Amino acid sequence: MDQRADGLVRGMRNTIAVMNTKGGVGKSTLVLSMAETLSAQFRKNVLIIDSDSQASVSAMLLTAANLHRLQSDGLTIVDLLVASVLNNVAVDWPRFVVGGVSDVDEARTVYLIPSDMQLTLFEREVSKESLHARLRTSIGALLGHVRSVFDVILIDCPPGLSVLTESWLREADFHFSPTKPDYVSTCGLEVFRRFKSLNPEMGFAENLGVVVNMKDNQSSVDAEYHRWLSNNPENRCIAQAVPRTSALQHASQLSAIERSYVAKYPGESGAAIRAVCQEVLDRLATANAHAPPPSSPPPPAAASAASQAS
Ligand SMILES: Nc1ncnc2c1ncn2[C@@H]1O[C@H](COP(=O)(O)OP(=O)(O)OP(=O)(O)O)[C@@H](O)[C@H]1O
Ligand SMILES: [Mg+2]
Repeated sequence: MDQRADGLVRGMRNTIAVMNTKGGVGKSTLVLSMAETLSAQFRKNVLIIDSDSQASVSAMLLTAANLHRLQSDGLTIVDLLVASVLNNVAVDWPRFVVGGVSDVDEARTVYLIPSDMQLTLFEREVSKESLHARLRTSIGALLGHVRSVFDVILIDCPPGLSVLTESWLREADFHFSPTKPDYVSTCGLEVFRRFKSLNPEMGFAENLGVVVNMKDNQSSVDAEYHRWLSNNPENRCIAQAVPRTSALQHASQLSAIERSYVAKYPGESGAAIRAVCQEVLDRLATANAHAPPPSSPPPPAAASAASQAS
C-alpha cells in the first residue's frame, strides 16, 4: 500500500459519488473543478467516472470529436457495464480510462471514464432483466480496482435516483452533495436522506459533506441558507461555499488551447475550490484513519499507466 505524506493511502476509502437528486446544482462543474484542482494544486491522481447519460463532464474534458470517437469505439462506461453486467464477461477496465483530458496545463493527472446517451438504454435493460444485483457486483468490482490505482475517484451522478446511481451510492465509500442555497435544492438533499434511510441493511456510502454552490456573497438570503445547512450536523456542511462566478460558469467550456490553472480558476473562484478540496482531503484522511481498508481485488497489470503517472 502506498502511504502518502498527507495521510491519504491509496487502496483505502477514496471513492466519492457526487450526488443531489435536484438537477442543475453544479455537480458536474464541481466534479470538473475539484478534479483539476486536486491534480494541479494538490498533485493527486484523480479519476472521474461520468455516470450521467448527458455526458456533461465528458464534454467538459474532451473535444466533441474525441468524445464521439470514444463513443463510436465502444470505450465508455456504457460499454464497460454492458460487457460486465449484460454479457457477464470479465472487463479490462483500464482500457476505458482516458488520460490527459484537462485543458489546464498543470492538471496532467486527471483521468476519465466517459459516458454516452446509451446509458439510459442500458439501465432500462438492467431493470427489465432484473440484473440489479449483478450491476451492483460489477460496480463494486470496478471501484475495488480503481481505489488502489487513483488517489481520489469522483463519480458524476445525474439528478434523480436511477438504478445505476443507487449502485454507486451503495458501493462507493462516500457521497458528496453540492446544493444551491435555495429551497428546492435543499429539498433534493432531504429526498436523498430519506432514500438513504430506507434499506439500511443494503449498505450505503458515508456522507463526506454538503457544499453550498453558486452562493451570492452579497445575498443575505444565501448566507441564511448556508447557516441553516451548517447548523444541521447531518449535512456535514463544508465551511467554504463556492461563489457564483463567471469563471466557474465558463469552466465547463473546454478551451482549444491549454491554459494555466489561474487563468481558468482566477481569484475567489480558485481560492474557494482549493479550500473545498483541502477540506475534502482532510475529511478523507480522517475517515481513513478511523476505518479499516475495504477488501479490494489485486490491481491488474494493465492498470500501471495511471499508477505510474503519479
Ligand atoms: N459556482 C458557479 N458559478 C456560476 N455558474 C455555475 C457555478 N456552478 C455551476 N454553474 C452553472 O450552473 C449550471 C448547472 O451546472 P452543472 O451542469 O454543473 O449542474 P449539475 O448539477 O451537474 O446539473 P445536472 O443535474 O443537469 O447534471 C451550468 O450552466 C454551470 O455553468
Ligand atoms: Mg451534471
